[in-house]
Amino acid sequence: DQNNQSVALMVNGHQHRLELKPWVSLLDALRHTLDLTGTKKGCDHGQCGACTVLVDGKRVLSCLTLAVMKDGSEVTTIEGIGSPDSLHPVQKAFIEHDAFQCGYCTPGQICSAIGLLEEGKGETREEVQDLMSGNLCRCGANRGIINAIMAVKNETE
Ligand code: FES
Ligand code: FES
Repeated sequence: DQNNQSVALMVNGHQHRLELKPWVSLLDALRHTLDLTGTKKGCDHGQCGACTVLVDGKRVLSCLTLAVMKDGSEVTTIEGIGSPDSLHPVQKAFIEHDAFQCGYCTPGQICSAIGLLEEGKGETREEVQDLMSGNLCRCGANRGIINAIMAVKNETE
C-alpha cells in the first residue's frame, strides 16, 4: 500500500519494522499490529491516561501520538515491565497498597508512575497527585495509587 510508511520501533527490547498508515496512533500500532493489548484504550482522546506508555523513558499518551512520529524510538509497555515472578517495585507497591480494583487503568497508572519516578519529579504527596492527575481511575483507587507511589519514592530515596 502506497500510503504505508515504514516505522522502526524497539518495543520492550524487541526491534520491529512496521508498515503503517501515517495516521495510525502508537496505541493502535501496539494493540493491533503488535498484539500488545496490555495498554488500554479508554477515551482515545487524551483524557484518561489508560494508554500511557514510556517512549525513550518518558511517559506519553499513546492515543495522541502518531506511530510514525516515533520512528527509531524505544517503547516500553506494561508487557515489558516486570513479570509474574519478578515484579517491578511499582507493581509490588500497587499490590501492597490496594492500588487497583478492575485493573483497567492500571497499566497506564504504572507506566505513568515509573515515568514520574524516573523524572525525579514530585517532592510531596500533593505534587505526586498533581503529576498523576492525567491518569483517571473510575474505581476510585486513587488513594492507594498515590500511597503506592509514595512508598516506592520513600524506599528509593
Ligand atoms: Fe489515551 Fe484515554 S486512551 S488518554
Ligand atoms: Fe478500575 Fe482504576 S482500577 S479504573
